[in-house]
Amino acid sequence: MKAVQILEYGEDVVEINPNAEMPSLSSGKLLIKVNAAGVNPFDWKVTLGYVSQGKTLSSPMTIGGDFAGTVSDVGEGVDRYRRGDPVYGSGIVLSGGSGAFAEYLITGEHLLSEKPKKANDIEAAALPLVGVSALDVISNKMNLKKGQKILIHGGSGGIGSMAIQIAKYLGAYVATTGRKGKADYLKALGANEIIDYRNEKFEERLSDFDAVFDTVGGDTYERSFQVLKKGGMIVSMLEQPDKELMEKYGVNALGQFTKINSEDLKKLAELYDQGIITINIDRTFPLDKAGDALKYQRESSVTGKVVIEMD
Ligand SMILES: NC(=O)c1ccc[n+]([C@@H]2O[C@H](COP(=O)([O-])OP(=O)(O)OC[C@H]3O[C@@H](n4cnc5c(N)ncnc54)[C@H](OP(=O)(O)O)[C@@H]3O)[C@@H](O)[C@H]2O)c1
Repeated sequence: MKAVQILEYGEDVVEINPNAEMPSLSSGKLLIKVNAAGVNPFDWKVTLGYVSQGKTLSSPMTIGGDFAGTVSDVGEGVDRYRRGDPVYGSGIVLSGGSGAFAEYLITGEHLLSEKPKKANDIEAAALPLVGVSALDVISNKMNLKKGQKILIHGGSGGIGSMAIQIAKYLGAYVATTGRKGKADYLKALGANEIIDYRNEKFEERLSDFDAVFDTVGGDTYERSFQVLKKGGMIVSMLEQPDKELMEKYGVNALGQFTKINSEDLKKLAELYDQGIITINIDRTFPLDKAGDALKYQRESSVTGKVVIEMD
């Protein structure tokens, strides 16, 4: 089968292997025919070795996590799914999958769910990591309530665009940071207030917020403490809690580590089928151009998601 692999970490290391070994099925796992695979910043961070913890690769690794596809075979003990079922989820190697940028993948039953009925394969493949991240942070970690005020950074990105829609659905007031040219898109997602982060300092405009959802990190994370009210909460996709800033501003801080799971994927599919969330597909690439897809996700100002479509 065809798969997108790396043999070493670095720039431009992605190779298309037309004769990759078919992953072998074991108990509790499913073999999936991949129809589309979502591209996340994590995928290019893997190729650059940012998450390798100093280890070198001992064999070719198929990259990619998010997918939408069809069940091709099931291992022992899997009784909820049958051949031909449309599913979506994660097949990332780090969680025991075989990698999603491939014609077939193997993954655990706990890492997938039934595909949203109203989503096509491209839309469904765009959802898992960004959707589960936004859902987990806003509903579980922040427990955001009706009438509360939240600042969501990077509103036109994958996680940001999901987070705006979920926060609005819960009845929150949403401010978001984004480029000037994305204002119409951000309004359509439901944002009440948009701050053009390249021309304005959000901390000079906003105050007394209940929550900040940081999908950017660095200086943006540090400045965000200023907009929170006492007892407020900041959750970051990139930074670990800064104790000094927490004490200085009297707020709570959490660092998020998203674990894709079938329960959250099921909730996400329900939100999608009820029309509560949508996903904008910025651009699709064929599997043979996976390297270009990673470069585009990393270097362009993507609105929503980039997805790899199988032949
Ligand atoms: N910890 C975890 O478990 C976990 C899980 C998933 C993702 N992540 C990380 O979370 C981050 C976001 O993921 P994503 O999928 O949403 O990425 P994404 O789709 O690339 O979105 C990032 C957004 O940030 C915006 N942005 C860049 N600089 C900004 C600034 N200074 N102020 C405001 N917005 C800014 C970008 O907009 P423009 O380019 O248009 O300016 C873009 O829309 C990534 O670094 C990813 O690796 C972590």
